[in-house]
Amino acid sequence: MNVPIGLSSTFIAGENSHGYVREGTDLTEAFESVIGSVEGGHSVVFSSGIATINAVVDLLPANAIVVAPNHAYPGNSVRLRELAAVNRIQLREVQIDDLDAIRDAITGAALLWLESPTNPLMEIVDIKAAIKLGHSQNALVAIDNTFMSPVRQQPLALGADISMHSATKSISGHSDSLIGVLTVKDVELAQKLRGRRVLQGTLPGALETFLALRGIRTLGLRYDRAEQNALELAKKLEAHSAVDYVLYPGLASHKNYERHMSQASGGGQVVCFVLKGDVEQAEKFCNSLKIWAHATSLGGVESTIERRRRWPVEPVATPETLIRASVGIEKVEDLWADLDSALKSVYKN
Ligand SMILES: Cc1ncc(COP(=O)(O)O)c(C=O)c1O
Repeated sequence: MNVPIGLSSTFIAGENSHGYVREGTDLTEAFESVIGSVEGGHSVVFSSGIATINAVVDLLPANAIVVAPNHAYPGNSVRLRELAAVNRIQLREVQIDDLDAIRDAITGAALLWLESPTNPLMEIVDIKAAIKLGHSQNALVAIDNTFMSPVRQQPLALGADISMHSATKSISGHSDSLIGVLTVKDVELAQKLRGRRVLQGTLPGALETFLALRGIRTLGLRYDRAEQNALELAKKLEAHSAVDYVLYPGLASHKNYERHMSQASGGGQVVCFVLKGDVEQAEKFCNSLKIWAHATSLGGVESTIERRRRWPVEPVATPETLIRASVGIEKVEDLWADLDSALKSVYKN
């Protein structure tokens, strides 16, 4: 039933279809074949989500123009800015949910990098329209699909060239594996990306791949339950006196709810909300929770929560008291009771 966790770095010549571990193993191929079939393309697995963006950019010619979000997952932004600083690429950062901003920046682009919803402001890109703008310049269009997972949003079916996941998150689902994956329509592009993986040395380890392969078996079930919990909590948070506003694309109050629901089949398992009061209160709230783990990352079976601006790389566009909650599969009553009691203890009236 399971592909063994092979711990060989090399293989006996002539006895195996593999030669050296950096080029891939049976486990690598098994994971790629599962994700590829779920996302409708050819998958290439990497040692992390961040390794995937390095592989994609490595395919671009020197000084290529890259259009990317001005604030989204900060690791990607920091890396692209580093590459721009040494003239490897020309970077044009735009407000990614604004099609006019993409249109103004797209001329001559070789890569349009999208993320929808964005982390953590939950901005929603009009994916099909953005892809059209990218393709008008023959740019590759890639989407970071981490927040939605393959069971809620299918970028390749929407016309993207590349769908990207930090599979560390909901695909693995148990906060125990660092892994990333790209899925592409074009088999030649997949081969080129595989080549980048070999030369950048970014094959995931056997245990990580095994865990991700085990995790994806329950992705649909876990995601359904977590998302159901997330929607219920988002509604309750929206009505809470300590909460200024909630950012969740599954709520009708989200500014681009309809746009999101036209291209994804649910709001997902991440809910962000901005607390009233100051940073100290927001931190105290995170530290007062008993069931929620005060920890970064998302997509696990266990609920995690944090104030995003505690990280120096988080853009200033993220409000200081924005809380990002990754909702797990616990009983929603318990999750709410914990949130409510922590809010009460910090915001006394
Ligand atoms: C939306 C998004 N993309 C990419 C990444 C990077 O993935 P990894 O940590 O697996 O390198 C993250 C990690 O938090 C993320 O949230």
